Amino acid sequence: MSDAAEIKYGLAGVIADETAISKVMPETNSLTYRGYAVEELCAHCDFEQTAYLLLHGELPDAEQLVAFAGAERARRVLPWKVQQSIMMSAADAHPMDVLRTAVSVLGAEDARAAGDDLARVIDLYARIPTIVAMDYRRRRGEEPIAPRGDLGFSANFFFMCFGEIPAREVLKCFDISMILYAEHSFNASTFTARTVTSTTSDVYSAVVAAIGALKGALHGGANEAVMHMMLEIGEAEAVGPWLERALADGRKIMGFGHRVYRNGDSRVPTMMEAFRAMAALKGAVRWVEMAERLADAMLKAKNIHPNLDFPTGPAYYLMGFDIAMFTPMFVMSRIAGWGAHVLEQKANNKLIRPLSAYVGPPQRRIAG
Ligand code: COA
Repeated sequence: MSDAAEIKYGLAGVIADETAISKVMPETNSLTYRGYAVEELCAHCDFEQTAYLLLHGELPDAEQLVAFAGAERARRVLPWKVQQSIMMSAADAHPMDVLRTAVSVLGAEDARAAGDDLARVIDLYARIPTIVAMDYRRRRGEEPIAPRGDLGFSANFFFMCFGEIPAREVLKCFDISMILYAEHSFNASTFTARTVTSTTSDVYSAVVAAIGALKGALHGGANEAVMHMMLEIGEAEAVGPWLERALADGRKIMGFGHRVYRNGDSRVPTMMEAFRAMAALKGAVRWVEMAERLADAMLKAKNIHPNLDFPTGPAYYLMGFDIAMFTPMFVMSRIAGWGAHVLEQKANNKLIRPLSAYVGPPQRRIAG
């Protein structure tokens, strides 16, 4: 194929546009949101401040934060039709499918409402956690728990799922995962959201498509796959033989590798530290031991480092969430990044429409 040299399979290495939202620096394994290193955001800010930063470009002052948090708290309750769409889902429907459908219903409900795109993004940021929590309880045959306006983003989510607020360390670990998941430049789901936006379609359509992209195991679905893998391994002592067998069988080890980072994912040390602290509190360090052994063994065997999904999978498991809701929880956070990209794409739009190299039959005529 004469064009083959020109093809960038998977768009690897292609710079498709400019962005001022985040910068991934594989040379130094670092990631910044609007210029701030994610480790620093985790140390000094919470997820609500981070979401504001991504959407507005600057960290909020006290007044701006109160207004932003107030807008989120005011919009948490779901329209009746969205509640119905969740409650009518099949008993075994995957939570990502339920979420994708609920966001679509939200879009159909909102089509006639006033408000700009930022207001719609904040609507989704406020309501996606309510959808995820309601579906969690539905799958368990439990009544939904209404959001509590006196609680912040992370505490309210725990409350809507479990009816209680966990220990400070658990909440901190969760909030850190939300900060770290919030944005990552032109990953597959964000690029999907930008592609849909580039056609001048609406925010909800962009987010529905992005949820579909995030679901796959090579992207957001990896945090669920990691936990299934760790349960399959069972104990730290089994890591060595398990990995040997898995690699001999040609299996991809979930939570390892990254298209952009080749020498480690900058988000992993921060998340590992939070995971360690929470596991110690819960008396569950065996999961940390297993994770550390697997990371060491994978480095020796393949020279491949873990990505963020590797520590978040077991961390969410220890928090008490069921595995099927791990990727929807990723959506709760990434909506901030998707929203920022939708707004950025709209501000300087050009229809995204790449070319392809045709490899089918040459032009021919219909016989007879
Ligand atoms: N387990 C085993 N081998 C892996 C691997 C993994 N998790 N990730 C990459 N590799 C190997 C590939 O088999 C390939 O080896 P080869 O050259 O001998 O064929 C090589 O490393 C390059 O991998 P490739 O899949 O082509 O890289 P990519 O940039 O297209 O893929 C991922 C990046 C993330 C899709 C890939 O690393 C992966 O599938 N990881 C597991 C899923 C995951 O954790 N996803 C979350 C990403 S944040």
